[in-house]
Amino acid sequence: MLIENMKLDKLYIRHYPDPILRQKAENLTEIGDTIAALAERMTEIMVKAGGIGLAATQVGVPLRMFIFSLTAKPEDVQVIINPELKNFQGVSEIEEGCLSLPDVRAKVRRPAACTLTARDLDGNEFTMDAVDMAATVIQHETDHLDGKLFIDRLSTISRFACRRGIRQLEEEFEDR
Ligand code: NI
Repeated sequence: MLIENMKLDKLYIRHYPDPILRQKAENLTEIGDTIAALAERMTEIMVKAGGIGLAATQVGVPLRMFIFSLTAKPEDVQVIINPELKNFQGVSEIEEGCLSLPDVRAKVRRPAACTLTARDLDGNEFTMDAVDMAATVIQHETDHLDGKLFIDRLSTISRFACRRGIRQLEEEFEDR
């Protein structure tokens, strides 16, 4: 996709099982005004939907970039470009949801802490240690950029409990 031709006002949240959600996103080589505009548009979409994180792949743009705001407020949004995660520690089990899977929620086991290295909108590299909710959101969004969804990480029992919601989304997608 040519970023220059991206129609920002046409972007919308893709729902499971849209195949774009399974695409592996590409690293950003150039960070400029277009990416800043994309981040702004993604913020608008995320806040309107009441989410705390949104990956570019979720709006159909397969670039390694996501935004998050633990308060769900636009002023707290952080833009994360080309994220790399390491130093995974501990285990936490926090209930997760996803704007691409409305009405599906489940506890997901993940490392409780991790270190994020990424670039910001100015292209500067930074490192952040994240724990608990922040670590969960960062891992959840980075998963999106690898074509993974939180439902891929559920235990058999949790997946069974979510089966109706998942099935409903599959039917809605087929009916479009
Ligand atoms: Ni998600």
